Amino acid sequence: MPESATPVTPVTFPPAFLWGAATSAYQIEGAVREDGRTPSIWDTFSHTPGRTAGGDTGDIAVDHYHRYRDDVALMAELGLNAYRFSVSWPRVQPTGRGPAVQRGLDFYRRLVDELLAAGIKPTVTLYHWDLPQELEDAGGWPERDTAYRFAEYAQIVGAALGDRVEQWITLNEPWCTAFLGYGSGVHAPGRTDPVAALRAAHHLNLAHGLGTVALRSVMPARNSVAISLNTSVVRPLSESPADLAAARRIDDLSGGIFHGPVLHGAYPGSLLEATAPVTDWSFVQGGDLELIHQPLDAVCLNYYTPTVVSAAEGDVRGPRADGHGASDHSPWLGADDVAFHQPPGEHTAMGWSVDPTGLHELIMRYHREAPGLPLYISENGAAYDDKPGADGTVHDPERIAYLDGHLKAVRRAVADGADVRGYYLWSLLDNFEWAYGYEKRFGAVYVDYETQERVPKSSARWYARAARTGTLPPVEPGE
Ligand code: FCB
Repeated sequence: MPESATPVTPVTFPPAFLWGAATSAYQIEGAVREDGRTPSIWDTFSHTPGRTAGGDTGDIAVDHYHRYRDDVALMAELGLNAYRFSVSWPRVQPTGRGPAVQRGLDFYRRLVDELLAAGIKPTVTLYHWDLPQELEDAGGWPERDTAYRFAEYAQIVGAALGDRVEQWITLNEPWCTAFLGYGSGVHAPGRTDPVAALRAAHHLNLAHGLGTVALRSVMPARNSVAISLNTSVVRPLSESPADLAAARRIDDLSGGIFHGPVLHGAYPGSLLEATAPVTDWSFVQGGDLELIHQPLDAVCLNYYTPTVVSAAEGDVRGPRADGHGASDHSPWLGADDVAFHQPPGEHTAMGWSVDPTGLHELIMRYHREAPGLPLYISENGAAYDDKPGADGTVHDPERIAYLDGHLKAVRRAVADGADVRGYYLWSLLDNFEWAYGYEKRFGAVYVDYETQERVPKSSARWYARAARTGTLPPVEPGE
């Protein structure tokens, strides 16, 4: 049979599946001094010499604050039926406490109305890393009060948008906030204090619980509240007891530390034991675990690449292959005897290995951790060195292959019984990739940072066909 005649089973998704894209406020909005916004920790951090590649900042980013109408029109043109964005805390509550700034809230009201008019379902993330600087000056996430401040902010945004936004996410990747922000220091606020990082993790959990209660107190009961976790898919290098123990350690530190209290009402005993040399966890107060353990409506998962570990001989501080940036301080507290390995095979421009089986594994794991709860892939995607060709078009066959492979993994998980309701590609647009600045392009849409022109890459066209038909299009060689 000639190759072209080989029957191919179409990979089709359930009719109500959400085909989305995701962004976050600081990475795209710009307009950092407009309409009453004050600095967040990311403004301070990115303006501190040596913190981001090329000294890049989010001052202008991709100017989404002024171009949101065109960006929504672009999403509609691409056939997306869902969009996940985050609200900038210092835009709506500049000092992190007290009354809201209506002009800030109005921006999100207009954005949501524009999305709804285009038939695109909005998903709001309340916290995607841009803590008001004043709250960091008061101690930041290691301080308990920040969790209460977050609940107040959640209530403000819930009251303003709860009538028109059904899907809510409290926190994005609390692991990054706690361990990259306060442990390894490669993210804002750039602190490197192990106890502060663990305190931050607990107060983020508390913020999630208090925020969930606050949202529900002001929103219609039909709305859904979830959290976005980036639990590592940890693979031991061998089945030796030492390597399995190393894998367990990293699993606890990336996953159990959050889903333990959030989904099961307890921190894993093995986590408490492994971190005992650092802290006795006395910052966990009576009643906290009940507060954190709120019933949820869904769980959102972010996945990019698996993590391969083994037990190390001696101390392995220093350069690591864990994909989270260079620092002399490990984000993996109490795991100095764990070595990280770069898996073989293909890698993205981040150096992250391409492995869709990890996404399937992650989904099936949360299918078990959170039985009966709908799951969403709230982020998945890849950075490549995309450049426009002579004709101005941008061809990114690697990204098409990445998306195709990962969407197939999602579909396999659905076939295996997981209730996955949607997928949000990271990211709609090229944008400010945190410490990597504008060097790493994750967008399905290319952005010319000089002119702010948006050019859908070939992956955006491919994804648009998938979104419109509910079936993965063929992956054309050289597309
Ligand atoms: C995730 C973040 C997102 C983006 C992607 C590449 O950790 O949530 O903002 O940086 O990684």
